[in-house]
Amino acid sequence: MYNIQPVAEDVFYVGASDRRLAKFENLFPIPRGVSYNSYVIVDEKTAVLDTAAASVSAQYLENVAAALDGRPLDYLVIHHMEPDHCSAIEAVLARWPTAQLVCNDKAADIMTEYFFHDDETAVDASLRMKEGDTLFLGRHELTFVMAPMVHWPEVMMSVDAATGILFSADAFGTFGALDATIFADELRFEEEWLPDARRYYANIVGKFGKQVQRVLKKAKALDVRMIAPLHGPVWRKADGIAWLLGKYDLWSRYQPEDQAVVILYGSMYGNTASAAQALASRIGAAGVPTAVYDISVTDKSQAVAECWRASHIVLAAPTYNGGLFPPMEDLLNDLKALNLHNRTFALVENGSWSPASGKLMAAKLAELGEPDDCRLLDAILTIRGALCAADTPVFETFADAIAADFR
Ligand code: FEO
Repeated sequence: MYNIQPVAEDVFYVGASDRRLAKFENLFPIPRGVSYNSYVIVDEKTAVLDTAAASVSAQYLENVAAALDGRPLDYLVIHHMEPDHCSAIEAVLARWPTAQLVCNDKAADIMTEYFFHDDETAVDASLRMKEGDTLFLGRHELTFVMAPMVHWPEVMMSVDAATGILFSADAFGTFGALDATIFADELRFEEEWLPDARRYYANIVGKFGKQVQRVLKKAKALDVRMIAPLHGPVWRKADGIAWLLGKYDLWSRYQPEDQAVVILYGSMYGNTASAAQALASRIGAAGVPTAVYDISVTDKSQAVAECWRASHIVLAAPTYNGGLFPPMEDLLNDLKALNLHNRTFALVENGSWSPASGKLMAAKLAELGEPDDCRLLDAILTIRGALCAADTPVFETFADAIAADFR
């Protein structure tokens, strides 16, 4: 059964949600599913904006046909050619063979690496957009805005002059299937969706803060009245759009959202865990919001997202094979790859005969951002196997120094 939703006059949502996929990009768990959004504009000319993933392509094609309602398709616009959005390109062109591809030079290059192996006629005949170029559809006219590296190099966005819809590609998207509504203002977004939106941003786009900042500057000059991303709900209320732009501004400048502590610990036998819990209780008792995660059981994408959220990060890990506990090493490698910086860190190391994890974690932190972008609180708390009553003064001094940093 087709399922299309009106977004604005002549503009239809034709995307579909996947609730079966376990991991997005085969990396990030998505227990709430994910939507692959696509839009159809039915005007003097008709246009499909992006396609969908292979897993939902049957539903997607049924939706497109319903939205076109027998009209021929004039344009297939590709804002972002990553296969989660473009697996159905060839199927769309096979079903509506008169449609002309609209993309940019970079997208055309990359598309031929993934698709069109036997016949590149459609790519060769494509309309190539550059910054500021327009596509006239009738009442609707799309103006294209290049957004390289948000999230791949070929990404572009477009804004529709008639409706003020910014078709924003991956930007402003989120994990999470769309259920009864496609509109953010009909969801409890901040309560129920924000953690997944942050996790999506940090892990998918987090590395590209400078590029996101460039797009945000461009967006300020546009008449944006709605945001229609390729994942997650559509934004149509001014206050919601302002709130979302504010989140993206913070995230892309690597500024924390919350003055808060996140404790991320690895623990083989529970002793580092015990220290982390005691630390959380003492910092929390000082009135500082504090969250605790075991990085052996918390998905790394969630740990990364929490590092994006909080101002202070405590890393606690055993020494392992003379090196760093592997899940902690993995997390720190990811934070570096994603370019996290502008945070304050405190370190807890554990090691019976030769504790080294504190020094190793400090060395990894020194690689985050530019030199001195991250601050390391002075003392490293060293645990020899397990904390005991005799360690209380040292432990309390360490915990109180973290809490004091909030005053
Ligand atoms: Fe949703 Fe970068 O693809």
